[in-house]
Amino acid sequence: MEAPRYYLTTPIYYVNDVPHIGHAYTTLACDVLARFMRLDGCDVLFLTGTDEHGQKVEKAAETLKMEPQAFTDKVSKNFRDLLPFMNISNDDFIRTTEARHKVAAQAIWRRLMQNGHIYLDKYSGWYSVRDEAYFAENELIDGKAPTGAPVEWVEEPSYFFDLSKWQTKLLEFYDENPNFIAPASRRNEVISFVSSGLRDLSISRTSFNWGIAVPDDEKHIMYVWLDALTNYITATGFPDEQETLYKKFWPASLHMVGKDILRFHAVYWPAFLLAAGLEPPKRVFAHGWWTNEGQKISKSLGNVIDPIELVEKYGLDQVRYFLLREVPFGNDGDFSKNSMINRINSDLSNDLGNLCQRVLSFVQKNCDASIPQNNGFSKDDERLIAQVYGVLPSLRADFNSQSFNVALERIWSIVSASNKYIDEQAPWKLRKTEPERMQTVLFTLLETIRCIGILLQPIMPASANEILNQLTIDPSDRSYSALNEEHCLQSGAKLQQPNPIFPRFDEKT
Ligand code: MSP
Repeated sequence: MEAPRYYLTTPIYYVNDVPHIGHAYTTLACDVLARFMRLDGCDVLFLTGTDEHGQKVEKAAETLKMEPQAFTDKVSKNFRDLLPFMNISNDDFIRTTEARHKVAAQAIWRRLMQNGHIYLDKYSGWYSVRDEAYFAENELIDGKAPTGAPVEWVEEPSYFFDLSKWQTKLLEFYDENPNFIAPASRRNEVISFVSSGLRDLSISRTSFNWGIAVPDDEKHIMYVWLDALTNYITATGFPDEQETLYKKFWPASLHMVGKDILRFHAVYWPAFLLAAGLEPPKRVFAHGWWTNEGQKISKSLGNVIDPIELVEKYGLDQVRYFLLREVPFGNDGDFSKNSMINRINSDLSNDLGNLCQRVLSFVQKNCDASIPQNNGFSKDDERLIAQVYGVLPSLRADFNSQSFNVALERIWSIVSASNKYIDEQAPWKLRKTEPERMQTVLFTLLETIRCIGILLQPIMPASANEILNQLTIDPSDRSYSALNEEHCLQSGAKLQQPNPIFPRFDEKT
């Protein structure tokens, strides 16, 4: 049987600035999902990259007195370098300045034109460079975009996409595909936005140059959002529809985005695709925004969180865990030093770290550093093992609905059950009185830890590997198909010297 396919994407990041926690968060959520799907047997394509055209990037280059291409080369690299640093397992990295992308963006334009969805007119209205978006007079709040960004008056010849004709089709599409937009509250927002009527969309500009030329009319460059959204099919080889990647992976399974850019992905993008005769993606998930110690994150407040500093201070897997555990995915969340330290010291160090350390060092000392015998499971042993062998279907549902925090709570309930089990079974007491029973108890715990290690790989790949290495689990036996009795630990196998995996975080040291 062929493996199920899963194609997921991050937004492509504007190269006007250095990467911050918001970028790291979206990419991390995708990485966790990509890793989960691979371990669960899917054929995965995971794409990220940089959005390099438009006025915002052009202006940023100008400020530094750099040519836009040289500037984007430099800043794009910062985003690319962050990926290995955060242990991100993307399969491709796309830049909108690449030749493959220009071909795809122009091809989609031609299709829209051929299908009669583009016409030439004149745009006059407001434009926010920061949002790279058009606004009508009645949308402005105190003379600014609803995001608070400044707007400028634009009056120039422009091509338009006939978005106003897509209202009914989009509403039908949302209705037929109830999982297309998540979470549900965001879906309702989009539906009410579309229901209130759509205006035709200006899709070209003539007052600056940094972008992809409109086919057959070089005075115009394509609107940066039409250019940018197309990246998702560029990476599958479009416009070559015979290309294997395209056939295999389009339509995308999931576009992960922040709530601020949902409209572009859930309204414009499916309309462009339907108009071009292409299939829309299967799902768009809009996550929330982080604040820093209760305050909106902004450059002017000087409270931008640098993901590199965060990782250097707290540790990579600690940060990966925190970002996905602390806040129900989809909601806004607050980053605070205290909550970060609490998560590290309580969930990671006390619960998980202690469980592994207690069991592994006890086995090291009392079982000749090897996997003890299973002398027959009791009801309690069976209950613990059954919990960890049986958790995958629920986790699958969690990951398919991007409920990362729920998935982690579920795994942690097994960690807690294991800690409770040690205290109740008290192997240290059994050592003299019932050594055979002690062996079975330790066997049960090690087998549970093996499965917890396997389950945690998507979230904390390095630490999970460390757990599995200490148990000397062969790398080929670490996928989710090994979460069963058939792949159970072998008594007598030698264990590695245990190393504590999650030290407590102490501000002073
Ligand atoms: N270039 C566009 C996306 C084009 S996709 C075809 C863009 N880029 S961005 O660099 O400005 O933003 C990328 C992502 O970062 C967005 O999903 C946005 O929601 C996210 N975040 C920016 N600040 C954030 C927080 N403070 N918290 C969480 N995510 C935030 O938009």
